[in-house]
Amino acid sequence: MTAPARPRPLGALKTLAAFRAHLQAQGVALGCDEAVEVGPGAPLARAHRLGDGRLIGNRFCIHPMEGWDGTPDGRPSELTRRRWRRFGESGAKLIWGGEAVAVRADGRANPNQLCLDRATAPSLGALRDELAAAHRVRHGGDGDLLVGLQLTHSGRFSRPAPGPPQPRPAQAHPVLDRRFPDGVAVRVFSDDELDALAETFVDAAVLAADAGFAFVDVKHCHGYLGHELLGCHTRPGRYGGALANRMRFLELVVSGIRRRAPALGIGVRVSAIDVVPFARGPDGRGVPEPVALPYLHGFGVDAGRPTEPDLREPIAFLQRVRDLGIELVNITAGSPYYNPHLQRPALYPPSDGYDPPADPLHFVAAQIAATAALKRAVPELFVIGTGYSYLQEFLPAVAQNVIRTGGADAIGIGRLALSYPDFPADVLGGRPLDRHRLCRTFSDCTTGPRNGLPSGCYPLDPFYKERPDAVRVKALRPRAGTGAET
Ligand SMILES: Cc1cc2nc3c(=O)[nH]c(=O)nc-3n(C[C@H](O)[C@H](O)[C@H](O)COP(=O)(O)O)c2cc1C
Ligand code: SF4
Repeated sequence: MTAPARPRPLGALKTLAAFRAHLQAQGVALGCDEAVEVGPGAPLARAHRLGDGRLIGNRFCIHPMEGWDGTPDGRPSELTRRRWRRFGESGAKLIWGGEAVAVRADGRANPNQLCLDRATAPSLGALRDELAAAHRVRHGGDGDLLVGLQLTHSGRFSRPAPGPPQPRPAQAHPVLDRRFPDGVAVRVFSDDELDALAETFVDAAVLAADAGFAFVDVKHCHGYLGHELLGCHTRPGRYGGALANRMRFLELVVSGIRRRAPALGIGVRVSAIDVVPFARGPDGRGVPEPVALPYLHGFGVDAGRPTEPDLREPIAFLQRVRDLGIELVNITAGSPYYNPHLQRPALYPPSDGYDPPADPLHFVAAQIAATAALKRAVPELFVIGTGYSYLQEFLPAVAQNVIRTGGADAIGIGRLALSYPDFPADVLGGRPLDRHRLCRTFSDCTTGPRNGLPSGCYPLDPFYKERPDAVRVKALRPRAGTGAET
C-alpha cells in the first residue's frame, strides 16, 4: 500500500472508467456496476421483510449522526430537529438510531449529547414523530420506514460536563490512557457497576419502545463502552477474558429488553474491525502507535500484527448475536478518536486528526470487504455497511454492486446525509446527482465538535455555511486558508 503525497480527489474523476482505472492504479479491489438500475425491482430499491414481520422499504440506511447540539438536560434542540427531519426526507427506509443517545448523564460524550430518561423521553418520541412526518410528506407513507434509537454509554470518551473529560473506561489501555490530560481521574467500571448499567440500558430501551421507536441499537462501536468491553482480553472478573464474558453486557441488556419490552426490535452497531491507535507522524500522515505484542486490548484486530484486522472473533460474536434472535447488524470499524482514517475515510483530516496513511479508498474497501465476509459467514443477519460517503459520485455504482453480490443488505450513509440528505431519493428516482452537495470529506462536521461547536456540514449546507460558527470552523481546519471547498 503506497501513499501518494496527497490522494487524488474523486471529484476530479469524470467517468466510471476513470474511477475504475484509479482503483486499479491504487491496487484497491472494489466492484462497481456499469449502470445503476431504477424501479421497484432495482437492487437498491427492493424492500425487505425482517423475521419479525417489519418491512424496510429499500436498501438505504441513514447512519446515526450526532450533532453535539442537544440542550444541557439532554433534549433535542432546533438544530437536532432539523437534522432528524432531513433524515426523514432522505428517502432511506432504515434510520439506524438517529444519533447516539446516552442512557445516563455520566455516559454523555459531550455536554450537548442527547440523554434518555423519563423526563426527556417525550421529546425524543416527538423527534421520531417529526422524522416520520417529514418522510410521509416527501415520500408518501411510512409503513415501510423503520426508525431505531442508538443507546450508548461513552465509557472512555465520556465528557458529560464542560471542562476536562470524565473517563469511565472498561480497561486500562497502554496507549489510550496516556492521552488523558494530567490530573483527570480515570475510574474503570467495576463488574457490579456494569451489572447496574445493563439495567439502565434496559430502562432506556423500555422508554424508547414507549416513545415509538421500532428498535434500539445496543451500541458496540467506535471505542465507546460497549465496544471497549469486547476488547477486554486481560480484564479479570465476569466481563473480561473469554468472548462469552466480553459479551456478557450485551447478553444482559438483550435478556432484560426481552423481558420488559418484548415487542421492541434490537440491533447492534459493532466496530467489527479495528487496528491499534494511530497518531500524526513526522510528515503529517497517520502512523500506528507502537504497542507490545501480542496486542490484547482490541476486538477484530490481529493480536500479532495489530495493524491488520482479524475476523475470527467478530464472526463468533455475530453468530452469538444471531442466536440471541437479533437480525439487524450495522458493521463499522475502529474509532473516530484513535484511528479516524479507518472509521471515516476522508481526504482532509479533522483538527485533531492526521493525513490518511494511504489513499482513503483502501479503508473504504477494507470496510466493504470485511462486511461482505461477515455477511457470508452469518447470512441470516440483515447487514448494513459503512464507509460509503468517501465514494461520492461513484457511491451508487459501488453500492448497487455490493447489494447485488450479497456483500451487505443495506448501504449506510453517514456524512453524505449531512451535506446531501436526499441523495438516496435521487438515486432511487434515477435523477442526476447534485454534485455541489456531495460530501467531499472536508471533516468540518468533526472539527466543529472537537472544538466545542455543533456539528453540521459547514462547507456545503447553506444553513450551516451562514452560521457565525462557520468562520470559526474554517479557521480551525488543519489547512486553514488552503481553500478546501470545491
Ligand atoms: C459528525 C458525525 C457524527 C457521528 N455520530 C455518530 C453517532 O452518533 N453514532 C455512531 O454510531 N456513529 C456516528 N458517526 C459515524 C457515522 O455514523 C459513520 O460511521 C461514519 O461517518 C462513516 O460513514 P460515512 O463514510 O458514510 O460518513 C458520526 C460521524 C460524524 C462525521
Ligand atoms: S463537513 Fe460536509 S463535506 Fe465535510 S465531511 Fe462533513 S458532511 Fe462531508
